Amino acid sequence: MRVPFSQVREENRELMDELLPRLTEVLESGVLVGGDEVPRFERAFARLHGTREAVAVNSGTDALRLALRALGVPRGSVGITVANTFVATVGALVSEGVRPLLVDVGADENIDPEAVAAAVTEETGVVVAVHLRGRPAQMDVLRDLCAERGVPLIEDCAQAVGAVFSGRPVGGFGAVGCFSLHPLKNLAACGDAGVVVTDDTKLADRLRLLRNHGLADRDTVALWGENSRLDPLQAAALDVKLSRLAGWTKSRRELAALYDARLAGLPLVLPAHGPDRTHVYHRYVVRTPWRAELRAHLAAAGVETAIHYPVPVHRQPAARTGGVAVADGGLPVTEHQSGEILSLPLHPLLTEEQIDYVTDRITEFHHRRSLRAHRDEVGA
Ligand SMILES: Cc1ncc(COP(=O)(O)O)c(C=O)c1O
Repeated sequence: MRVPFSQVREENRELMDELLPRLTEVLESGVLVGGDEVPRFERAFARLHGTREAVAVNSGTDALRLALRALGVPRGSVGITVANTFVATVGALVSEGVRPLLVDVGADENIDPEAVAAAVTEETGVVVAVHLRGRPAQMDVLRDLCAERGVPLIEDCAQAVGAVFSGRPVGGFGAVGCFSLHPLKNLAACGDAGVVVTDDTKLADRLRLLRNHGLADRDTVALWGENSRLDPLQAAALDVKLSRLAGWTKSRRELAALYDARLAGLPLVLPAHGPDRTHVYHRYVVRTPWRAELRAHLAAAGVETAIHYPVPVHRQPAARTGGVAVADGGLPVTEHQSGEILSLPLHPLLTEEQIDYVTDRITEFHHRRSLRAHRDEVGA
């Protein structure tokens, strides 16, 4: 059996009957920049995340960059975040002249609030918490900590559309929440797209200026901005997909629960849970000391896997520049986890039969391994 890691084409195909008329409508309108589609989508997105405002931009990376600028995070200040994330979290800081200080994560693979507390100094300009894999970070502690120290908190929600911590959707804990709607994300545009959410209307106004050349009106440039508008075609597609998101998230969570049940008892670390948070399973990631062997075993059986992320950001060649630093004591947990993490296929079109197949192959791998270990022990 072949089990693909993701099925973007098939997911779009399922929606074609709804997508095509909406896209045609936009094309027929002749309004391909601006118009009503983007504000309509922004209102729906803000409603979903319980914030007053949502500002749609060109990508998750732009959401982070423009948020840093709108918040006035000083160039040269320090931005505290993690190394186990997609490079854009750190790249956005570098591109805005903020010096990344990378702190360790906890056993749950998310930013460790104690490490943040130890790292904050007068030089700190911002803290960026990532809800890695769709599992919310410890937002109550982080929010209180940042408020106490007077440091703005940005949530990198790129992997966590619709995730909830303590009854509140992510994105509304910090000063801003930054989302990616890249085609591989839980809510996927038909190309690049991103959104910033906030309760601060003045900040949202500044973001709207920044994403559109700083234009207060057609002929007045209020500040230096850039072009990071979302296209109406993308907004229309996203509006269609948003109506399916709750169902997709339910499927992802049910499939993750099946993985949990089938893999329980094997020598694997399964994704962390918590009664206080709703994980949306952008990724289902296990940890194993035998990653290369297990991955090869699954590949031979037709199961695609991936690693998010094999090289933590501080080990990347680019991290020798850009003012990137690592917190005192290094990143032992991040380093250890990066050698063991393995992402299994998880998307709304995955079937129970495929989960059974994948988990049977993983069980088989462990049985064979322990048989081999036993044989080696008795010298057979
Ligand atoms: C954690 C994280 N931050 C930021 C980004 C950047 O988003 P985008 O690819 O839409 O620029 C991504 C997505 O790729 C991500 O996973």
